[in-house]
Parts: sequence; C-alpha cells; structure tokens
Amino acid sequence: MACHGPPKPFTAAAPSPHVFELRARDGLARTGVLETRHGRVATPALLPVVNPNQAVVPPAELASRFGAEILITNAYILGKGSLREAVLRDGVHKLLGFSGAVMTDSGAFQSHVYGDVEVTNAQVIEFQKAIGSDLGTMLDLFSEPEHPAARARADVDETIRRAREAADLRGDMALVGAVQGALHEDLRERCAREVSSLDIAVAAIGGVVPLMEAYRFRDLVRVIVASKKGLDPSKPVHLFGAGHPLVFPLAALLGCDLFDSAAYAKYARDGRMLFPDGTRHASEVRESGCPCPVCSSHPMAQIAADERLLAEHNLHVSFAAVREVRRAIAAGDLWELVERRARAHPALQDAVRELRRHNDFLEEYEPLSRTGAMYYVGPETAHRPVLHRYRRRLMERYAPPPAKGVLVLPEGSRPYSDRYAAVVERSLAAADVHPVVKSVWGPVPLELDHVWPLSQSLVPDSLEPEAAEAAEVFFRQWAAGAGYAFGKLWEGEATLDEMRSAAPGPRQVDWNLLRVRATADLQFGRGAADPLLRGHVTYAVSKNTGKVRNVLVDGAHILSLRAEDGFFTLKAAGARRLQAAFPAPRLRIVVDADAVPFQREGKNVFAKFVKDADRGLRPGDEALVVSPDDELCAVARTAMNRREMLAFRRGVAAYVREGVPPPA
Ligand code: GUN
Ligand code: ZN
Repeated sequence: MACHGPPKPFTAAAPSPHVFELRARDGLARTGVLETRHGRVATPALLPVVNPNQAVVPPAELASRFGAEILITNAYILGKGSLREAVLRDGVHKLLGFSGAVMTDSGAFQSHVYGDVEVTNAQVIEFQKAIGSDLGTMLDLFSEPEHPAARARADVDETIRRAREAADLRGDMALVGAVQGALHEDLRERCAREVSSLDIAVAAIGGVVPLMEAYRFRDLVRVIVASKKGLDPSKPVHLFGAGHPLVFPLAALLGCDLFDSAAYAKYARDGRMLFPDGTRHASEVRESGCPCPVCSSHPMAQIAADERLLAEHNLHVSFAAVREVRRAIAAGDLWELVERRARAHPALQDAVRELRRHNDFLEEYEPLSRTGAMYYVGPETAHRPVLHRYRRRLMERYAPPPAKGVLVLPEGSRPYSDRYAAVVERSLAAADVHPVVKSVWGPVPLELDHVWPLSQSLVPDSLEPEAAEAAEVFFRQWAAGAGYAFGKLWEGEATLDEMRSAAPGPRQVDWNLLRVRATADLQFGRGAADPLLRGHVTYAVSKNTGKVRNVLVDGAHILSLRAEDGFFTLKAAGARRLQAAFPAPRLRIVVDADAVPFQREGKNVFAKFVKDADRGLRPGDEALVVSPDDELCAVARTAMNRREMLAFRRGVAAYVREGVPPPA
C-alpha cells in the first residue's frame, strides 16, 4: 500500500536501534525497513554468509557491487580461531571491512554438524557484544527434524531458557532469538510465542537446514506456518540457512523477512551455479542464459574454472531473486511468483499444495484486493486464501435472492454479465431463475461478478481436469445450502424450455440494487445491506460505463463503488448506519482516547494507539474508527489485521478516509 497519509499526529520517540516498519504486503510477506546501528536494511533481505577466514568475495565488494546492506558471519568461529584477538580489538566491522549491518550467529549450527560446541550461551552473547555485532544470536539448541516430541520439547525448553538469559545479557546489542521444535507444530508455536515475547529484535526459525538440503519443502511450510502462528508479527523473521533462490518466494510468502546464503560460496566451491529455478554444474553448462555481469562478460569455460566468478554469479542470481520477491510484494503478485516457481521442482509443488491446509491462518493476512488482474497459474490457484475467503463469505454472508431455481452458466470470458447478457435476459423473461456462473474460483452469482478477482482474472479456455472438478465441488457445496429447488446448466435453447416448464417466469430483477446489496453483505457481513440501504435509494451512475458509482440513501452519500476492485468505499453516513446495526467490536478499530481528536481531523491511525479491533478485519478492509466508548471518530481503510495492529508499535494501522466530528 503506497498511500502516504497526512502528517503524523504525534512526534515519535527516538527510535530504538532495531525497529521494524512495514511498507507493502502480500500474503504473509511484507516489505519493510529494519533499522540497525549500521544503517537501514530493506527487507526481504539476503545476508551473504561471510567466512571470516576465507571470504571468496571481500565484504566491501558485497556492499559496493552487490548492494548488500547486511551480512552474517559466525561469532563462534571468530571466537575460537586465530582472529579472536583482532576482532576483539578492532570490532567485527573493521575486521571484515564492511560498514553495513553485521549479524553474527552463535555456533548452534556447528553443534548440529559436530555434535557439540565449546561455548556457553552467556559466553557467546558477551563475545558478540564485545565485537560490536549489530544483531547477535543466542545459542539455541538445534532440534533435528527426526527428534521425537519428548526430545524436541527438551530442546525447546532449553532454547527458551537461553533466550531469556540472552535477553537479560544483551545490553544494547539487538538480539536474535531462535525458534526450534523440530516438526512438532505445537512446540514450534509455543517456542515462537515465548521467544518473540522477549526483548528480541529478530526472531529466527532454526533447525530447518536438514529440511532444505533434502528438498523437504512441504515440511518447511509446516514448520514456518506453525512458527508464524506464535511469532509476534511486528518482528522481522529470519530463516536460518535459506540460501537457495528457489525457496525465497515461498519463504517470503509465509512471512520470512531475512535469508542467509552460504550457498553462493559452497556451490561455487563445488563448481555449481545457482539459478532462480535450480542448480546446474558449471561444467555441463554451455551457455548460462544468465544476464548477470559475470555471465555477460566471460566465456563459460572461464567461469566454470574460476571459483570467484562462480561465487559472483551465484550472488548476482541470489540478490536478483530477493529483489524480484520485493517487486512482487509491492505489486501484489507474490502468489503468482510462488506458483510459477513451484514448477521448477516437484518438491516445491508439494509445498504449494500444502499451503491450502493452512488457509484459515493465511487468510487473516491476505489483503482484500489489489490492482491488476489475477492470473490462473494452475489448479492450485483456486485454493489461494483470497479465493478460500470468497467462497466462505459467499456461504456465510451472501443471501441468495428469491427465485425457484438456478440457471448455471459455464465458465467463460469476463465480465460474465456482459458475456451472458443476452442469455440472462431471455432466461429471466421465460423463467423464475437466478443466474450463477460455475467459475473455477467458485460459484459467482451474476450480481457479484465485478468483485475482485472474479472478473479481474485471466483463465485459460481449456482447464485441467483437477481445476474443472474443483469448480464442480465448490459449486455443489454452495448450492446445497442456497435453498433453490433446482439447477439447470445452460446448454442452449433447449434449456429455456426446460426452465420455463420447471418454473415459469418472468422474473423481474433490479440489477443495480441486487449488486449493491450482495456486495455490501459480502464485504461487511450478512445483514449489512438492510441497515445500509434502509430508506429511499438512489444512484450516481458513471457517464462512461453506465455503472453505479455512488449509493445515496435519503439523499445522503452512503457508499462509493470502486471501479478497480468492485468493493465499496464506506462514507461516514454509511459508517453510522453500520455502527448502529452491528454491536462493537464488529468492524471497529478502537483507539486510545488521546488519539481521538486526531482521527476526527482525518489523521491516520497509528498502530501504537490501537487498543482493540475486530478480529474479522483484514488488510484493505473498510473500518469504523471509534473511541474507547464506541463513539465514531473516523472511517478508515485498514493496513493491518487485528493481531498486527496490537503488535506493531510503529507504522500506520489504518488510513483514514474521512474524520467524523463529535456529535453537536
Ligand atoms: N544456522 C542454520 N541453522 C541454524 C539454527 O538452527 N540455529 C542457529 N543459531 N544458526 C543456524
Ligand atoms: Zn550469471
């Protein structure tokens, strides 16, 4: 969301050195800015792993040639080896020759590789403070994926104990707390909740390298989702050891903000090249097809024989992959990117198929809509959280209008109301039926076809059997509860006669009213249309399109229908009606009494002043901004869901559209 609101109502206190501020969002992904003592880091970010003993690419060049704003190195290795004295004397930035942010790791991974480490949690924290690390990591207990529940529980208990100890010892170093718990979703969630409630700057999901090495991406999804359920959403999340560009889009979609890559160097040592869709042996590549500076200015044979060039190519590809993720988040098409990338490896397809099992959680973070069309990528597209939401709301909120039967229209070009205009006109003249399209996204009653992404999507003419079957299932699930006596699939002229004898017409329909009612119920909740539209309803209609733009009741402007996404913008007069009809906390954001005068003036709602909010609100929803005693002070468009509004201490929770003065 790129909107910039009016000036901030309060002067913010001097920022603590590791605040995280959210910018754009998509899925659970977000672009943000992480402030450190060595500069601001745009997230999602890639942290190249620097081996202090032998850096293939000098850290200064990571900044100047690759744009690295942050890197990660290992405090355990620094503390044990020949560099100990130098790093204690000069600090880690000078030792590495890097003026950006430096995160250090603790040795937990070395204990996974070697079975043990010769350092305590307290020692490694003190050492990281002493060398001037910007983000120092606690010594977590690496829980292996195969650890049974009892063992993993012990790992988690000890990791939580050490996280508390580290938080006590951190001084002014920003702390990275780790989440362990193997594949046990309850343990992951508990560890995440306990660790992220401490005074940590970054939460890191650990113990996942063995999953990624074995391409167990479905398990990776389960682990990240379980962890995210417990994590404080206002804290950036690091995914330990995620260095292959193949996983960046998926991990970002699930809310990981930081990745660390040793892969660029390790793969280069083995003569292998990273690509956004996988890995290839340089010796088997004749032409890389890669636009990076290395590949565009060296013959392949020279690259293949040069570890440094291979590492540079790998870095270019990795940084580009993260930039592409940031672009997709800003554009709102990260789901498309994830689904497309999943074609690169069957194990990623399994991971994408796993996502729908977590739709109830993912849906809470999914923005209401975005600009631009939604592309069908494959049968999994219909299971995206935003479509899961649409189908659920259709069943829970939409009231099917009275008619005897349903005229079932096949999937086809959009908008459906244009495509089927003639068929519908003749059908309604003949029979008492309501037209509903059996779309791949789910049933679309014709009066809802303007709502994003039903019309604003591109679907191939020929569908995979799996997608066609899903459309059948979605339709049947809805039709079973819709209360119509019969359904007839449109198959041409003969259907007219059948419908006429089953339920003779004609049926009169006020399409504008039907659209407005159905959209209001779908957007604000079952029963919203009645109080919104009680009285004498008139419309302001677009001269160009003939479509409803503004809805007025008894002369007052209640709603505006947005051309971009087909949802309503709520006006103050509409908000008053909803407030009277729905008891608190429905549709509300409750702000601190101190903030009330600023909201009334039309200033944006800052997260730190939110006291409570409706659990049903989603990013992009219209909301009523109210005082602690439920006086309406503004109408706003949310930028966050409730969990986020309550967690974030910084940033805009909702963009105010219209302030509401106190009652006279
Ligand atoms: N590097 C890779 N995995 C891990 C992990 O689980 N914990 C820590 N501290 N570092 C890691
Ligand atoms: Zn290249």
